[in-house]
Amino acid sequence: MPDYTPQIVTCNGETFKPFISMSALKKRVAELGEKLTEDFEGRRPIFIGVLNGAYIFLSDLMRRVQIPCEVDFLKLSSYGDAKVSSGQVTSLKDIDADIKDRHVVLVEDIVDTGLSMKYLTDQLEREKPASLSVVTLLHKKEATRYDVQLDYVGFEIPNLFVLGYGLDYAQEGRNLAQIYILDEE
Ligand code: IMP
Ligand code: MG
Repeated sequence: MPDYTPQIVTCNGETFKPFISMSALKKRVAELGEKLTEDFEGRRPIFIGVLNGAYIFLSDLMRRVQIPCEVDFLKLSSYGDAKVSSGQVTSLKDIDADIKDRHVVLVEDIVDTGLSMKYLTDQLEREKPASLSVVTLLHKKEATRYDVQLDYVGFEIPNLFVLGYGLDYAQEGRNLAQIYILDEE
């Protein structure tokens, strides 16, 4: 079967068009993996994925990291089913690992307002990791209102809703193999 990359996607009555191709994603993820491999050599980092959105990015990224490392997950909810941030973050699942004195790499799908990232880094810092770094596949720079430190960014994108490669719209669209953007026309 071919990859799931339709030319047009209709999700919850809205139309999306292709925005970041599979090959562009693959190339950028490989670059990030190489950089992380260099930067964390000898430090046995623990990658913490933010569920649900980051699961596909994290699984591709970790396989490009060529040093011993670990993984854990946490889960947040901030968007509900809407296309704009609700302005509230709730924690739905915490990590299991003890991260005190560990080198932690937080992996997100997208930073929009930055509220989730701010909430997460504040929460993880309280557990006194040796270091805390942040990787996000996508960053909507214009929309970011909170002061967040992003150490590794895959792509800076415009302030429009995106879908696919783990990202959803009301829980749909995560299985699309490339990233789509809202078609405003
Ligand atoms: P923030 O707290 O406003 O930065 O929003 C971050 C979270 O909202 C991300 O982890 C995503 O789960 C979700 N999100 C933000 N923008 C989009 C988008 O364009 N498509 C899908 N999910 C998004
Ligand atoms: Mg998310």
